Amino acid sequence: MITGGAGFIGSHVVRLFVNKYPDYNIINLDKLTYAGNLANLRDIENCPNYKFVRADICDFDEMLRIMRQHHIDGIIHLAAESHVDRSILDPFTFARTNVMGTLSLLQAAKIAWEESPEGFEGKLFYHISTDEVYGALELTHPEGTDSPFTTTASSAHHHYAFGTEFFLETTKYNPHSPYSASKAASDHFVRAYHDTYGMPTLITNCSNNYGPYQFPEKLIPLFINNIRQRKPLPVYGKGENVRDWLFVEDHARAIDLIFHKGKPAQTYNIGGFNEWKNIDLIKVIIKTVDRLLGNPEGYSDELITYVTDRKGHDMRYAIDSRKLQSELGWEPSLQFEEGIEKTVRWYLDNQDWVDNITNGDYQAYYENMYKNR
Ligand code: NAD
Ligand code: DAU
Repeated sequence: MITGGAGFIGSHVVRLFVNKYPDYNIINLDKLTYAGNLANLRDIENCPNYKFVRADICDFDEMLRIMRQHHIDGIIHLAAESHVDRSILDPFTFARTNVMGTLSLLQAAKIAWEESPEGFEGKLFYHISTDEVYGALELTHPEGTDSPFTTTASSAHHHYAFGTEFFLETTKYNPHSPYSASKAASDHFVRAYHDTYGMPTLITNCSNNYGPYQFPEKLIPLFINNIRQRKPLPVYGKGENVRDWLFVEDHARAIDLIFHKGKPAQTYNIGGFNEWKNIDLIKVIIKTVDRLLGNPEGYSDELITYVTDRKGHDMRYAIDSRKLQSELGWEPSLQFEEGIEKTVRWYLDNQDWVDNITNGDYQAYYENMYKNR
């Protein structure tokens, strides 16, 4: 069972599993909040090994019923409220879904697995978390310095780090936003279920993802869409915050590998050693969109608009993913330039997908396609 499979990352994980494992019965459990969109999965929705279930992870009785009914032996848990800006406006929803929802799923899995003949044997609760739980790193090299790390995929390219520290699996949790606080709390509950009840659990903490099907409130799809519509590009603060970007399909591949080969009770950090200052990334996006739309170079630079900073805006995230690379042999497959080009092309080629979200039509898809199945 994959929770949150109608969202951005979840839809890539569902697609990968449905296509790669015809012998698995894949259940996509999703509440279809504003962020859930079944159009993300149109290409696989009729596959015989795929089933969509609309449910709220906070509904414990329903989680237990589903666990028992489908004899679920593995859970990849992505369902969450994921947008930092929304968490600043509405922290309660984040505590409810991310903390209480994860707890209700953990407890339902525990009960269902304990009453199965093999108990916890052959079961896995895999929780998807974020690098934001580790807090923020300092920007000791604002102009960037040669990164001490590279990967084969990126070795041909110059890599920068904007500080000397990186998040390790052992870095102490220090979340700052209501979003990251709620994710940190959920991680603690997942570990507690392992340590207290012996439940096989696993956690990964990943850096910022980008790629097709990301909800267009997040930086990259928002900016691509605004450039297309010649709307202002709201850069928070001075645009100096640093994020570490990974192509979403590389995250999905890491999840597949870790689900099958990772060691229970472990934590793995996932990231591509690919730090970008927001403003530099934004310039790459503008250049790419203008080029693909046939605009002259520099045409959309005037859309950059500096706005009030995000409250409590974390300065820098940078993941050290060497444990995953050395223990399980994972590597990001795409160079960033390739990933951004692919991403911009996808949003420009799929304007209907974006427009359906911005005009609200995407939420009718469930009613039309699924409700009476
Ligand atoms: P998203 O917001 O695009 O999708 C979240 C999905 O969860 C949606 O389909 C939504 O309908 C569903 N959902 C929300 N509340 C639910 C509930 N109560 N019950 C059932 N389903 C519910 O999120 P995303 O960006 O794909 O992130 C997925 C996971 O990965 C999250 O746990 C997030 O914390 C984590 N993560 C995201 C990133 C990133 O860059 N996007 C990076 C690291 C980790
Ligand atoms: O690091 C992993 C996290 O990455 C995930 O856990 C979150 O679920 C995911 O949403 C993402 O969080 P961020 O806050 O880093 O992503 P976002 O796209 O909202 O913002 C990226 C950066 O761009 C951040 O420094 C804020 C800035 N920003 C964002 C928006 C939406 C702007 O300057 N302007 C904007 O309009």
